Amino acid sequence: MNLILLGPPGSGKGTQAKILVQSANYIQLSTGDILRESRQSGTKLGREVAAVMDAGDLVTDEIVIALIEEKLTSIEGQDIIFDGFPRTLPQADALDDLMHRMGSKIDLAIELTVDSSKLIERIIGRISCPNCGAMYHLTNNPPKVEGVCDHCGRILIQRPDDNEESFRTRLLEYYSKTAPLTGYYYKSGILKYVTSEGSIKNIAQTISELL
Ligand code: AP5
Repeated sequence: MNLILLGPPGSGKGTQAKILVQSANYIQLSTGDILRESRQSGTKLGREVAAVMDAGDLVTDEIVIALIEEKLTSIEGQDIIFDGFPRTLPQADALDDLMHRMGSKIDLAIELTVDSSKLIERIIGRISCPNCGAMYHLTNNPPKVEGVCDHCGRILIQRPDDNEESFRTRLLEYYSKTAPLTGYYYKSGILKYVTSEGSIKNIAQTISELL
């Protein structure tokens, strides 16, 4: 089963995707993570991507679709969770085409809904591991030892785009370009909503019941 997690920044897409990877053998395809890898490369493209991400804008469809196409061909046949992709209608069309060409399809799109006033607090408090990708929150989901990853012991970091100014741009981008995807997947008959408030464990349970 191939699943898309939709939702605004801070709605818990990455948190829930990682739980599914551990509990149900999914492969997580996060365009945010793929783009963060690209920015580390130090290439001209990496520098351009970094500037766009730090401002909170969307990277061009052309770049993101090419990156996803490359990843998809290397994991053919496995169950995938798309986290942060697609984010625009052209990306959704491109994903349908790519899946069709691979003899596969998207089975379910889950929109994680959260009161938007709660998102900023989640974003500002998020810390993550640069080594294994584990995600924490300073107060909602802290590591056992302050500032240190529970899984691999590395020092946790804050993302450069996790500040109020970038967050406002990201949320506006979400409402103007990504929110129309709910209509796209509703029309395909594969859209479900999950309230992403309350305990992370209970939300994960609701998602696995839907699967
Ligand atoms: P990306 O990395 O995808 O960021 P995002 O969509 O803004 O989403 P986030 O990672 O901020 O939030 P999330 O929903 O995953 O929440 P999380 O689980 O971390 O994209 C970054 C940038 O890359 C974009 O701005 C854009 O520039 C570019 N980009 C990426 N994809 C693109 C695309 N397809 N096209 C164009 N550009 C693209 O949770 C957040 C925090 O909340 C954590 O601290 C967590 O512990 C906490 N938390 C989670 N669940 C709960 C809960 N139930 N209760 C309390 N706290 C919770």
